[in-house]
Amino acid sequence: MVHSSLPIDAQGYADRRQRFMAHLGGAAAVIPAATLVTHHADCEWPFRQNSDFWYLTGFDEPDAVALFLPHRPEGERYVLFVNPREPGAEVWTGRRWGTEGAVDQFGADVAHPRSELAQHLRGYLKDAEGIAFRTGHHPAVESVVLEVWSEQLDRASRRGAAALGLVAPCPVLHELRLRKDPAELDRMREACRISAQAHELARAAVKPGMNERQVQALIEFHFLDQGARGPAYGSIVAGGDNACVLHYIDNQDPLKDGDLLLIDAGCSIGDYYNGDITRTFPVNGRFSGEQRALYELVLSAQESAIATVRPGGTAEEVHQTALRALVEGLLDLGLLAGDADGIIEQGAYRHLYMHRTGHWLGLDVHDVGAYRLGEHHVELDPGMVLTVEPGLYISDRLPVPDGQPEIDDRWKGIGIRIEDDVAVLKDGYEVLTATALKDVASMERG
Ligand code: GLY
Ligand code: MN
Ligand code: MN
Repeated sequence: MVHSSLPIDAQGYADRRQRFMAHLGGAAAVIPAATLVTHHADCEWPFRQNSDFWYLTGFDEPDAVALFLPHRPEGERYVLFVNPREPGAEVWTGRRWGTEGAVDQFGADVAHPRSELAQHLRGYLKDAEGIAFRTGHHPAVESVVLEVWSEQLDRASRRGAAALGLVAPCPVLHELRLRKDPAELDRMREACRISAQAHELARAAVKPGMNERQVQALIEFHFLDQGARGPAYGSIVAGGDNACVLHYIDNQDPLKDGDLLLIDAGCSIGDYYNGDITRTFPVNGRFSGEQRALYELVLSAQESAIATVRPGGTAEEVHQTALRALVEGLLDLGLLAGDADGIIEQGAYRHLYMHRTGHWLGLDVHDVGAYRLGEHHVELDPGMVLTVEPGLYISDRLPVPDGQPEIDDRWKGIGIRIEDDVAVLKDGYEVLTATALKDVASMERG
């Protein structure tokens, strides 16, 4: 059942289409929806709309195709191809909006049945200066687009039209998606609110002997209970040494007295915006000396990194700030040796901290948008949202680099990450996930 309610913010979607078309120049864009994917024989995974298509349409059905035609007259610029109403199919999978709904409810200038794409595309693309289409992702639509493009090239010399260029829509579209408008930021606040609540509930419930899977159940129950679609990504519920596997999603071990528990979980809400939060705390409510030392180090690295978020800053600066704080702290604790600059330059910390400090967040958890253009790091602008998620993972999995100390057993099996979602504002930042506590006292109980 994939039928969505009315778009919450029809004007918002219309504004995005307008901005997108203004950037297309004379090119026409073809943006396909996602398709249903089956598993074990003929069961369908829950439908997940393509984020580019969703961003421009708010239309939540599979197999649709949106055309954006800035070269056409007003009233013919936004065309949707959709699955038509069909009682025999709708009785199985739910109501469809059909071509009428596509126009009346979703603002399309014109709508056609999806089966007529090949028949109409030729005419719609005529006189466009180029075709903006992402190759490689949508084979069924791609074959139609390439056929029309090839025909137009064949005719270009006789018709006197310039040869069409096939261009990628992503740079323009992803640049737009990178900067969230106020309505999008509100939706992200909601995704982060629910995600943060789930972390608070989980921490209150955890005790030694529970299974990681039971904690996952508590968290995901809360997501669904609050009306979210569910987890935005495979929830990571990792006790003790499991936390040193960055994408651990087995979640089937018992939680041991004396271990830490790392939970990396966030929900995806109805309009697909996501939260992405990690918290780490002691299973028995008390940090050991080593756990506390490393937790305080990761927390202070994270807080220093968040403090650098501002317009004109960069994700690279956020990363470098966290990295330097971690390396200096590890030198103080004797887990690294040498000087901080040399260690950073040689990457001699990577057996303890092997990922970067964050990523863009939005309709995709690892959201779209460039981090750098050549040597230039993209500057933070109001409306951008990024995660800030330093961590330390002390285990035997990676070799200790030459010149660095072997790790004493008392440190091993400690994996810590602290992750918040941070929006860039005109005059600084907002931590969207601040209601998930992270101070040392709150991580301890009793
Ligand atoms: N939960 C995925 C990530 O933190 O990047
Ligand atoms: Mn993340
Ligand atoms: Mn995460």
